[in-house]
Amino acid sequence: MTPAARLDEAFAAVPRAGFLPAGQRRFARLDRPLPIGRGQTNSQPATVRAMLRLLDVRPGHRVLDVGSGSGWTTALLSFLVGPTGEVVGVEIVPELVVLGRRNLARAGVAARVEQAREGVLGLPEQAPYDRVLVSAEATRLPTALVEQLVVGGVLVVPVAGWMHEVRRRDGDPDDVRRGPYSFVPLVGG
Ligand SMILES: C[S@@+](CC[C@H](N)C(=O)[O-])C[C@H]1O[C@@H](n2cnc3c(N)ncnc32)[C@H](O)[C@@H]1O
Repeated sequence: MTPAARLDEAFAAVPRAGFLPAGQRRFARLDRPLPIGRGQTNSQPATVRAMLRLLDVRPGHRVLDVGSGSGWTTALLSFLVGPTGEVVGVEIVPELVVLGRRNLARAGVAARVEQAREGVLGLPEQAPYDRVLVSAEATRLPTALVEQLVVGGVLVVPVAGWMHEVRRRDGDPDDVRRGPYSFVPLVGG
């Protein structure tokens, strides 16, 4: 199956509406970010798709979803890693940790969501990860997240208005700028 077809399958299996507040569900098919409370958003579907394409998630991967919010990206990632993989979300707003967990449970998705700790990016104590997805914008490349990857692992993160695809190497990481995007800020990033 092509990567594009796998993404089609994931989006079909994990309907966005199930991760939106009741008042927003009728907008689920619109290609724009939608509010989920606490000033945060469920990201624009085309952007989520572009990020997942860059992330190149494979069955069996361990994936960290930074800024899990509504839980939608966490659920999409869970579909992509399949039953042999593992996804853990991390979220800084306590109410959204609760929301994400509730949405995932309702959708029957077995991914965990953890509360982010102040001053700590990601979940270093559970590293390493094959892939790290970040759905909030950093001001500079978050090296703390690169360090949570396996060597050869990939981080996709918006940095100062641009999407970056970063591959951890033994030495300096490969860091490729992919295109302009705008996101809510990454706290501490
Ligand atoms: C665009 S929103 C949520 C997108 C989410 N992936 C979804 O599918 O709904 C980005 C999220 O990042 C969270 N966030 C911001 N800084 C963070 C940090 N340092 N650690 C964890 N989450 C963070 C925000 O609270 C927000 O929920």
